[in-house]
Amino acid sequence: IKRVTTNTIMGMKQQGEKISMLTAYDYSMARALDEAGIDILLVGDSAANVFAGYETTLPITLDHMIYHASAVARGTKRALVLVDLPFGEYQGTAEDAFKAAVRMMKESGAHALKLEGGTEILENIKKIIDAGIPVCGHLGLTPQAINKFGTFGVRAQEEAEAEKLKADALALQEIGCFAIVLEKIPAKLAKVVSESLTIPTIGIGAGNDCDGQVLVVNDMLGFTKDFKPKFLRQYMQLYSGVVEAASQYAADVKSGNYPNENEQY
Ligand code: KIV
Ligand code: NA
Repeated sequence: IKRVTTNTIMGMKQQGEKISMLTAYDYSMARALDEAGIDILLVGDSAANVFAGYETTLPITLDHMIYHASAVARGTKRALVLVDLPFGEYQGTAEDAFKAAVRMMKESGAHALKLEGGTEILENIKKIIDAGIPVCGHLGLTPQAINKFGTFGVRAQEEAEAEKLKADALALQEIGCFAIVLEKIPAKLAKVVSESLTIPTIGIGAGNDCDGQVLVVNDMLGFTKDFKPKFLRQYMQLYSGVVEAASQYAADVKSGNYPNENEQY
């Protein structure tokens, strides 16, 4: 099996092949998603939400992310493993950002990093890229800035924010990012940005004109109870499936139905 690289991903845009990306946080899920042929497994800091139960992505640490990323890397033969640097690790000095990036690469086995933001952190991203670490940008609704935004609503609906996003995307391409995630922005804007870039855009809630799509795996499997934003398509109903299976197991234990004579030594 040939490993997907950042060059493969950039080549897909040139070939007009859409890029598939899903999040993963653990070894077992990574194996299944890799077998399914997902191009990029994103070890998202959304682990803070769907794995750990926090309301925002702010509390997750570099150590937590290294743990998740190493588990995903061990479960993957083909997919490119992309990891979020968590809040606080790259918004300070370029030196601090670089150190966090190097630790992640050394200790996790990931292939590339994702950092949220544009011009504000451009120098920090550049230092990481210049060290040979591929970086994916992330613009639009950047959840690490939720306390600035105040809501998880659609971003860049007004002209000023849309113009800044367009400029940020070009700047990220200019310093060598291999792709950019566009989260929760108008489809029309995502189309304009995607057409303005030679590197691929990967959308979530950003319409069908992005060069690829990403979803949080727990969401697309229907495992995230009571979470159904407009952009989400659920491909399974895993939550109700687990409730049903666990209820049946509990009932079988209580009744003495499990284990039977073939399920013992
Ligand atoms: O952490 C995450 O899951 C993400 C995706 C939503 C792009 O950053
Ligand atoms: Na993230």
